[in-house]
Amino acid sequence: MAERPKSVWSSISFWKRSAAWVTGFSTILLIWLTFDTMSQITMGSDADLQKGVTKRVPAPTVINYHIDYKMSEKRGHEVPVIGEKEPFFGKEWSPKEAAKLLHLGKLTIQAKNCMNCHTLLGNGAYYAPDLTKAWLDPAWSDKGSMMAMTGKSTREEAMAEFLQHPSKYPTHARMMPNLGITAEEAKGIVAFLKHMSAIDTNGFPRNFGKEEGTTYAR
Ligand code: HEC
Repeated sequence: MAERPKSVWSSISFWKRSAAWVTGFSTILLIWLTFDTMSQITMGSDADLQKGVTKRVPAPTVINYHIDYKMSEKRGHEVPVIGEKEPFFGKEWSPKEAAKLLHLGKLTIQAKNCMNCHTLLGNGAYYAPDLTKAWLDPAWSDKGSMMAMTGKSTREEAMAEFLQHPSKYPTHARMMPNLGITAEEAKGIVAFLKHMSAIDTNGFPRNFGKEEGTTYAR
């Protein structure tokens, strides 16, 4: 009686070889992706900003520039556009000062656990508005209501005032609690929010500022 030919699917050496190839290919792919990601998330420098080189994560000194949010037809969503220089809390910040201010903002945001209610760069909760692009929220512009409400004449001062006394400026059904934030900490947070809004997040959060009621206080 002739032996039936063995199917390739039941051959042990076939599966061993396949496993080795798949593991090898995935390893190379992961190494390549790691380097590709590193270059995308590495912070730019002040020199990049001065030369107009666009980095996905700009230098802390981006707080010295006007930031716009414009539709990119090519990419199908909005992207942050870094514009002309503008004073931030009345001055231009050196790279050292800007980094220190941002650091204070980051520490305060962590210490007060803003992510308990808000989302930052995809992490956190949706009890309160997403903060990723909060700096660009029209409510804080000269056409919005927050400058008049807080009696301040710049976006950064209005935000800092709100952060120190949120319960004085209630707008939605939900109110942000008073977290005991100092004037200096508020400045740091606003710097952090401005820097974060300048990060190219591939249009996340989607539909920011377009749908009625998704943004804060119109
Ligand atoms: C207990 C929940 C809670 C915590 C914690 C909290 N917030 Fe809020 N926050 C809110 C709510 C609710 C609103 C909406 C308030 C309103 O519309 O009147 C808000 C609004 C805001 C806004 C305005 C949003 C916009 O789109 O313009 C900013 C900025 C903000 N919070 C920053 C912070 C920061 C920074 C922290 C941490 C230091 C923080 N919040 C912690 C609940 C919270």
